Amino acid sequence: MNIKEIVSKMTLEEKIKFCTGKDCWHIYELSQFNVPSIMMSDGPHGLRCQLGSSDMLGINKSEPATCFPTAVTAAQTFNTELIKEEGKAIAEEALSMGVSIVLGPGCNIKRNPLCGRNFEYFSEDPYLSGKMGVSWIKGLQSTGVKASLKHFATNNQEFKRQNGDSQLDEKTMREIYLKPFEMAVKESKPGTVMCCYNKVNGIHGSDNKTLLTDILRTEWGFDGLVMTDWGAMNDRIKAFQAGCDLNMPGANTYMEKKLLKAVKEGLLDEKDIDQSVERILTLIQSVMNLKKKEMNSAAHHELARKVAEEGAVLLKNEGVLPLNTDDICLIGHMAEDIRYQGTGSSHINPLQLPQLKDVLNVPYYACCDKEGAVTEDTLKQAKDLASKHKVAVVVAGLPDLYESEGFDREHLRMPEGHVKMIEAVASVNANTVVVLLGGSAMEVPWQNQVNAILYMGLPGQAGAEAVEGLLKGEVNPSGKLAETWPMTYDDVISKNTFGKKNTEYREGIYVGYRYYDKANVPVRYPFGYGLSYTTFAYSDLSVVHNEVRVSITNTGSVKGKEAVLMYVGNDAEGYHAKKELKSFTKVELEPQETKQVQFTLNDDCFQIWDKGWKVKAGTYQILVGSLSETIEVEGESVNIAADDWYVTLKGEPAREQWENLMGYKVPEFKEAVKGEFTLDNTVLEMSETSGFMRLLTKFVTWFVSRGVDGPKDMSNPTYRMMVTGAMDCPIRAMVINAGNIMNDNLAEAIVLIGNGHFFKGILKALGL
Ligand code: BGC
Repeated sequence: MNIKEIVSKMTLEEKIKFCTGKDCWHIYELSQFNVPSIMMSDGPHGLRCQLGSSDMLGINKSEPATCFPTAVTAAQTFNTELIKEEGKAIAEEALSMGVSIVLGPGCNIKRNPLCGRNFEYFSEDPYLSGKMGVSWIKGLQSTGVKASLKHFATNNQEFKRQNGDSQLDEKTMREIYLKPFEMAVKESKPGTVMCCYNKVNGIHGSDNKTLLTDILRTEWGFDGLVMTDWGAMNDRIKAFQAGCDLNMPGANTYMEKKLLKAVKEGLLDEKDIDQSVERILTLIQSVMNLKKKEMNSAAHHELARKVAEEGAVLLKNEGVLPLNTDDICLIGHMAEDIRYQGTGSSHINPLQLPQLKDVLNVPYYACCDKEGAVTEDTLKQAKDLASKHKVAVVVAGLPDLYESEGFDREHLRMPEGHVKMIEAVASVNANTVVVLLGGSAMEVPWQNQVNAILYMGLPGQAGAEAVEGLLKGEVNPSGKLAETWPMTYDDVISKNTFGKKNTEYREGIYVGYRYYDKANVPVRYPFGYGLSYTTFAYSDLSVVHNEVRVSITNTGSVKGKEAVLMYVGNDAEGYHAKKELKSFTKVELEPQETKQVQFTLNDDCFQIWDKGWKVKAGTYQILVGSLSETIEVEGESVNIAADDWYVTLKGEPAREQWENLMGYKVPEFKEAVKGEFTLDNTVLEMSETSGFMRLLTKFVTWFVSRGVDGPKDMSNPTYRMMVTGAMDCPIRAMVINAGNIMNDNLAEAIVLIGNGHFFKGILKALGL
């Protein structure tokens, strides 16, 4: 394909059209130049390939595919090779369905445990998130299929996800939120990057030249294509200038006329459009000859089971596990309807879904319903059953409705019914084991009352089989938490700034364990925590030049795997974390076997952002397990000036302190009012002051909920996600998402009406 020649032969109109998708999942073909259309599908923990009627948010069924555990469980494996295999298996499924681009991985940081999409993200730690992303991409792309690294960047909450503003200082951005993306781009070269919905310091992801060109391409050397998240395009003119190539989903005419005008008037250089066309063609060229492949669904199911097993975290065990009796009973509705993945665009139609009730095949009682509700009577029956068996296994956690794309969690708690169920069973059976399912940290006030807790995250289609193997000891748990579990939500430092339309990242770099460690706030389970059926001893830590060595011995009586985490510590006073994860590996050891593990120290281990990456000279600790070695590092003398809070972490950071970090006075956020609304506002935002908008909300609700299965009310997570998403969808995005009924004129008309200019709006809608 002679790309330059093709571009030179295309008209401006053709080029503009080509830079918007053909439909929800395809890029246009250019038949006159023998350029085929190519297809993309969600990711990231399996393929959501919609060959029939398509939609963005997972309501219409997709082709059956292997549902791997979601990122929460994948990260807990601390096993990069396994995640690489997963990426490769997903690519094979993509190839079997003619898909060339898989929309994943999601490398956003878990800033706050209530983010509705945390289950789709790896960790609160940038290094772990980056390494997992790198491995997944390497595996996937080893087949020729391309990844789409998302959501670039600072997409850390679902509230106002399409027009909210993440406000953060550069150091925090670089060290925490951009780091996993930087690692993924540099180490695994994803074919595409997906920009975020939200604004970053006031500028939308799609229009953000600093992110999409200066950092991504110029600094990090990215040479692929940038596409929007679905409906994230803000200003198509600025987006071309920023380096945003492809507007998704397609089949819309968003800003086409304005683009033509802008080029004609010299406001937009046609070369910017040419460059995007070239990038799209380059991408097509790189995948157009991929061969169809048969997928091995049995092998992929096995792999999904392995990931679920290795990602399971044993949070507590006072001896009942592994089970040494057959006299067990099973309690909790999730045993017959396992919570194994999240709602939204990542929702997979699994090839199979064994249930724990059938896999274990022991006396069973549901006790609660799908949402977790119990009654006095069901609790009594659960107790009756539990008291008749040596061991009671209770399955509980976060129901679908608690966490989803499209909305955030309301609190950190499990359903009250689940808590009651666990407490009731534990009151009559001292050998109560809780199997926990859910995509993120939760409060577990009952933990002292039970004997064992096995946290599975969202373990994918083979989750039930994985639970069986782990409970029975056929597999030894080896997962470690990839996020801190706080005691209560009150302990979360971002609790007062999370979930606002303009989100001030006041805590700076103190995300997850970086905060709890330094602020000395006790947690329920720390980052990196996880038990095993055996025990490991760490010894002989040495640091010679840049080589760190440590010996790990299996001191127990069964074979096991241990994730070995190396942190670099800095206990001097100042604005930095006490310790940061800088490397990890996983070893398998027979009983009494010892293996030496090696890590290499490099600049990345000591670099901080201070108007550029700098190796900070000073004294550091190399921390592995409970061992520590002190080393001196040569480098620059860097003194980060930061207000008190960032050094002492006492109380909460005040706005002024955060502004000093930002380096400027951040304007107070003001919600737009009637007369000020723009295309970036939503129907919901305008409906408070406009009767017409209130009517429109009714229409939109009806429109989007037509295809939703199940109850059409907020008890149905899909309904809630669809309706919340549509209500709070910026008017501009309606043109993109519903290109068949919406156009720029109509969008502008709606805004005019929202601003109180009814007749002007009607004229606009009529094109007059
Ligand atoms: C999500 C993306 C997803 C896209 C396509 C969006 O709503 O944010 O993660 O890839 O839809 O389904």
